[in-house]
Amino acid sequence: MTDEQERRGIFIAFEGGDGAGKSTQIALLAERLEALGLSVLSTREPGGTPKGEALRGLLLGGAQDWTPLEEAALMSLARGAHAAEKIRPALAAGKIVLSDRFADSTRAYQGASGLSSEEIETLHQLHSKGLEPDLTLILDMDPAEAMTRAARRGSADRFEARGLAYQEELRRRFLLLAMAAPERRKLIDARGAPEEVAERVWAAARRLVEAS
Ligand code: TYD
Repeated sequence: MTDEQERRGIFIAFEGGDGAGKSTQIALLAERLEALGLSVLSTREPGGTPKGEALRGLLLGGAQDWTPLEEAALMSLARGAHAAEKIRPALAAGKIVLSDRFADSTRAYQGASGLSSEEIETLHQLHSKGLEPDLTLILDMDPAEAMTRAARRGSADRFEARGLAYQEELRRRFLLLAMAAPERRKLIDARGAPEEVAERVWAAARRLVEAS
């Protein structure tokens, strides 16, 4: 069976810098899709499976000072399990998969930490056979505003602690990714009330959902 025949569902990833409100938007979109009678699987990275969550603990626990290559390899390994054990089976079952981060996070974060795109794409092919979302929604906002939001939530893990210049670089990398494939990556203005942002998310995702 080819990948296309296998994939009857829809795969949507949410991306963006820290504190852009991805988890809130995923919950609001899941609610909307379920109200339409659609079957939704919400998941996250790093994590999504027991193996992935174990790797998440290692990556975000702060006990080790991982090099960018080690970090990318562990992220990619976690993604491989996530793709094989959770995302592909859900797509084969016709579900709509909403993932809080996917491969573009490695492209932006580990790219910003100095890894080359060749290294990142090699890992992605190796672990996840190059799986890509049908649609990636990049929640875009000024990092200074996003950091204020994150601080209010009390979430300052080692990534968020990397500071404003790193977040500006992430934003630039996400913008470049969107420009490289505008048909499957959409920038969403993440400013304003969650309900306003949810309308922008729906405007970007609606056609794909209705066509399925
Ligand atoms: P998390 O607490 O889930 O943050 P957020 O709410 O911003 O998604 O932590 C995930 C962190 O891991 C986040 O700072 C981004 C980082 N990350 C990478 O550096 N590379 C990756 O491939 C992924 C999936 C996440």
